[in-house]
Amino acid sequence: MSTYTEDQRKVTTHRLIEMKQRGEKIAMLTAYDFSMAKLIDEAGMDVILVGDSASNVMAGNMTTLPMTLDQMIYHAKSVVKGVKRALVVVDLPFGTYQGNSMEALSSAVRMMKESHAEAVKMEGGSEIRESIERVLSAGIPVMGHLGLTPQSINKFGTYAVRAKEEAEAQKLISDAKMLEEIGCFAVVLEKIPAKLAAEVASQISIPVIGIGAGGGADGQVLVMHDMLGINKGFSPRFLRRYADLASVINEAVGSYIEDVKTGDFPNEKEQY
Ligand code: KIV
Repeated sequence: MSTYTEDQRKVTTHRLIEMKQRGEKIAMLTAYDFSMAKLIDEAGMDVILVGDSASNVMAGNMTTLPMTLDQMIYHAKSVVKGVKRALVVVDLPFGTYQGNSMEALSSAVRMMKESHAEAVKMEGGSEIRESIERVLSAGIPVMGHLGLTPQSINKFGTYAVRAKEEAEAQKLISDAKMLEEIGCFAVVLEKIPAKLAAEVASQISIPVIGIGAGGGADGQVLVMHDMLGINKGFSPRFLRRYADLASVINEAVGSYIEDVKTGDFPNEKEQY
């Protein structure tokens, strides 16, 4: 456990709201597999997001759109098995909830039953209100996601900062209030001006988790491959790298290749 995590109790949606109330920041990070999820949980993470960014960092796609429900269930199941303390939230993938609230419900129910995750995340505001309400009505906790919503990249046409204009900022504020009102337990705000994110965080009682949304949010989320320096081809201004695993791995694998080629590995102690 990291030194910041004295409280060993299981993190719940309720406890995240309590954290906001006492001004304790919430740490959230993505994971997609058992081994990394276990390490991240043991380090004391509050929330682990099985993001559909798996599409980019695990499957090598350009966008998150190709991800299927079966693939997200597979990743979520693997993560859940490695986690004891963190709350595990899973993205419902593109095309499994937007246009039809009954489909949204059946996607979320399948996700909860088969993966044993504890909550789902859904991208969008008023346009998907009915779908979110239907999922909530089944007792499934929902985390909202506003601002830059990568599943709508073909509508935006760019990954640039969202809600810089007044009209979009006002819609984002009203969507965030709506998500709180219908019963979402938290909302992710992605790549929006810091001032706007701070304003939203001060106006709603549920936690606001930011990514590229400044320090006024109630918590922060990053994609694990980006912050650990595994994926070095992605360097937005908001990203802080905490390690350079690409270099560590390159060096380690290079040494292994050299040892195999020279016959140094295995030595006498490394064989039966
Ligand atoms: O899929 C993902 O990793 C996400 C985070 C970037 C918030 O949605």
